[in-house]
Amino acid sequence: MSEWKVNKKDEAMLNNFVSDQKAQVILDGKTYTLPVIIGSEGEKAIDIRTLRAETGYVTIDSGYMNTGSCGSNITYLDGEQGILNYRGYGIEELANNCSFVEVAFLLVHGSLPTQSELSNFSRLLGRFALLHEDMIHFFDHFPPYSPPMSILSSMVNSLCNFYPEMTENPVEDIDLMSARLLSKIRTIAAFSYRKSLGQPLVYPRHDLSYCANFLNMMFDSPVRPYEVNQNVVAALNKLLILHADHEQNCSTSTVRLVGSARVNLYASISAGINALWGPLHGGANEAVIEMLEEIYQSGGDYMKYLDKAKDRNDPFRLVGFGHRVYKSHDPRSRIIKAACDQVLAALGISSDPLLDIAREIEEVVLSDSYFVERNLYPNVDFYSGIIYRALGIPNNMFTVMFALGRLPGWIAHWKEMWDDPNWRIGRPRQIYTGPTRRPFVPIDERE
Ligand code: CMC
Repeated sequence: MSEWKVNKKDEAMLNNFVSDQKAQVILDGKTYTLPVIIGSEGEKAIDIRTLRAETGYVTIDSGYMNTGSCGSNITYLDGEQGILNYRGYGIEELANNCSFVEVAFLLVHGSLPTQSELSNFSRLLGRFALLHEDMIHFFDHFPPYSPPMSILSSMVNSLCNFYPEMTENPVEDIDLMSARLLSKIRTIAAFSYRKSLGQPLVYPRHDLSYCANFLNMMFDSPVRPYEVNQNVVAALNKLLILHADHEQNCSTSTVRLVGSARVNLYASISAGINALWGPLHGGANEAVIEMLEEIYQSGGDYMKYLDKAKDRNDPFRLVGFGHRVYKSHDPRSRIIKAACDQVLAALGISSDPLLDIAREIEEVVLSDSYFVERNLYPNVDFYSGIIYRALGIPNNMFTVMFALGRLPGWIAHWKEMWDDPNWRIGRPRQIYTGPTRRPFVPIDERE
């Protein structure tokens, strides 16, 4: 099969995929014919872009369950078969063979880097790793209990004040912009952790790889030097790759929507970080560990939690299960589950009671009719917290780790949106359901 090349023509995407098939809608006795678009992996869509202009009708789709917001050539996922590809490469191959930096390059540029492209990109990552010293003072002024995701989004938003020069030609400068963001966000994340401990900041080192550098900034200390453990580096690489993109999820759609108003990359990514923070999205990884710890500390009776999750009158959800798109196994969760055993063995952790509880819950859930009927399988967040814990990452940093991983995807989508000749500002319609026009009542006449 020939290599898929991203070029300007392909990026005009949707119009290149209009098929011979047509859809018909009958409204008020009149038949309207609508084009059908079939994507490169066979995904089908009815193109309603002219629907309102032609018919006066809009469509309603709460939660965008059936709405394709754009064409995209970054990530393909098949929720029924549990397939996830970045730029045409299977997630399993990428996770087992690549570094996170290679995958970040792939997502942003569309092709895997050559050795020299990778060296250049890595050099840029090294060059941009420092934070402007004035930014470092920010950390002193957040209250000590500030959630790390709030610190991260504030700091990323403020990057446009310190590095405004790159926002003029963002797509041409994407190498610089993406290297700057990828590198600085790692430093911001590690510094916010150090500050939360009241410990001295550890500056980035030019001689360490992306993940090793992050771990060193997190854990090195003047009184206990950090020794980079390659097993830990490999596990972190894998986790970041698995999180690197997931097409039009809530945070990525947020980045695109905010960016569609032509706002700069940093502000768009900052908005994406806030979306990711939610417990139904990236915040679930922290919630999973909290739930497993609670089950463990209360004696291990997980059936009580399963019953609560099944009770329609109880808002509790079994975190780490279910996904809007995957209606069978989440391929990322399978890789992470397998990696859990390897990581724990490599780190000499003979058993982890939370992992044991997690495995038992999964086994019961996979044969319980409530979960089976609703296609609720473990998602990426179910096992990732267990690995992060084994790597020494504290619970409140889990979602920050997700953000580090998701960053290349956000950048790639922002770039694709920015460069798309079909780009329009994102602006959904609504169906108004409030009161119809009524007379104004002066305040002294109101009852
Ligand atoms: N526990 C119990 N019931 C569930 C769960 C769950 N985790 N997830 C969905 N359901 C039920 C839900 O109550 C509904 O039942 P019914 O048809 O009887 O009303 C049915 O399954 C369909 O759920 P939904 O809320 O319509 O599905 P959705 O596609 O809108 O939501 C989800 C997807 C991920 C928000 C949801 O499954 C959930 O809340 N999961 C727990 C939180 C979680 O693990 N989030 C991480 C998602 S993966 C990483 C990421 O995207 O960031």
